[in-house]
Amino acid sequence: MSDLTQQEQELVDAARAAMSHAYAPYSRFAVGAALRLSDGAILTGSNFENASYGLSLCAETVAIAAANAQGRLKDIVAIAVAGAPMNGPGDAVVTPCGRCRQVLNEAQDVAGHDIPILCTSGNGESVTRHRLADLLPHAFGPASLA
Ligand code: THU
Repeated sequence: MSDLTQQEQELVDAARAAMSHAYAPYSRFAVGAALRLSDGAILTGSNFENASYGLSLCAETVAIAAANAQGRLKDIVAIAVAGAPMNGPGDAVVTPCGRCRQVLNEAQDVAGHDIPILCTSGNGESVTRHRLADLLPHAFGPASLA
């Protein structure tokens, strides 16, 4: 995608930079995520694995939880995610896993507007832009509990 705004490119670059903080000794797959907040600030997250494999945390979830910890959950305006095998070419676009889509759905509900999702290859050469409604149609969300 070549029509990224300067702000979007900055967010993609931040997600790629966050890959370097991945703690992923088991999968050897590094993921970084970056959130743009309404005041322009960027928050990042990296995947954080665990010897008990199933307890591993994804980069997107870590970033969204960081926003919440700062009282900024409602202020998320966009997210970028980047990932690649640590010893691979990094040419494949990474999209959020199912659990992260569900976590994003909660953040989007709190924000009250769409949160565009920029998905990036580790080498930064490929970027795709998505709406959560396309990645997670018929989502279960807060309204489902009513
Ligand atoms: N991972 C993420 O951080 N985000 C995703 O959306 C997909 C997967 C991480 C989890 C695990 O540490 C590694 O990538 C391999 O699955």
